[in-house]
Amino acid sequence: MYNLLKGKKGIITGALDENSIAWKVAVQAYNEGASFVLTNAPVAMRMGKIEELASQCKTIIIPADATLEEDLENLYKKATEHLGGKLDFVLHSIGMSPNVRKKKEYNDLNYKFFQQTLDVSGLSFHKMMQVAEKTDSLNDYASIIALTYIAAQRVFPDYGDMAQAKAVLESVARSYGYHLGKTKKIRVNTISQSPTPTTAGTGISGFNAFLNFAEQMSPLGNATAEECANYIITLFSDLTRKVTMQNLFHDGGFSAVGVTEEVMAKFEQA
Ligand SMILES: NC(=O)c1ccc[n+]([C@@H]2O[C@H](COP(=O)([O-])OP(=O)(O)OC[C@H]3O[C@@H](n4cnc5c(N)ncnc54)[C@H](O)[C@@H]3O)[C@@H](O)[C@H]2O)c1
Repeated sequence: MYNLLKGKKGIITGALDENSIAWKVAVQAYNEGASFVLTNAPVAMRMGKIEELASQCKTIIIPADATLEEDLENLYKKATEHLGGKLDFVLHSIGMSPNVRKKKEYNDLNYKFFQQTLDVSGLSFHKMMQVAEKTDSLNDYASIIALTYIAAQRVFPDYGDMAQAKAVLESVARSYGYHLGKTKKIRVNTISQSPTPTTAGTGISGFNAFLNFAEQMSPLGNATAEECANYIITLFSDLTRKVTMQNLFHDGGFSAVGVTEEVMAKFEQA
């Protein structure tokens, strides 16, 4: 423990169960001295184990559907009241595609679902920042992070319409990062994480093949959820105040590799 977040206040979205990336972030942020509230969609309250996490981190849960501005207004109001001040960090750890869930092929997408995918997984990031700004809930020098995946830049066939949602998410980080940087010295980044065995991750068809392929293509191996949480803590801390508007790969080197010897060996006989 380094006390990197001592005195800092924040909001952590997306902790569903102990596999969630956001769960690990909450545990680490607590250990590093932060105080924060947890939030998730009302439906996730019933499915998940978030109460367990709240008691471990000695905090409260404020339900909010991240696609609804009124829910977000309530979230910021209650969070700043509970924490006794404005926020220094926000984690957006939210993703869901009804098309992926229902295993719709990419050339047979349901457009109502597609809009939901974009709304939940992409636009909600903009909404979280716009509502935070309108309710004046952020401190100067705050740090805002969303989680993304390399399918925003390259094709991974089973990722479906989530690829477009992640492209939106990363673009929102740049545009809003510019704005909040100018007005309040706030930084906004996305972290592009390795495949990670969580509820959202394993919902993608052929996830295990995905995971094993990435493991063999990454010189450092896949980054785990705990390692992702560690990285996020550094970005919430004051040690990274000039890092903004970036898509930061946290993937063991995957994004920079053409091929590895291990993967080449599998094709020698072909
Ligand atoms: N698991 C992976 O392989 C992987 C890789 C790269 C990026 N990511 C991203 O990491 C983030 C966290 O996902 P995870 O892997 O920890 O899975 P997870 O399933 O544990 O978390 C996803 C969360 O999104 C929440 N959510 C869904 N709809 C919502 C809504 N309308 N309002 C508020 N919350 C809502 C869910 O309740 C859940 O807690 C996502 O953005 C995901 O795309 C995951």
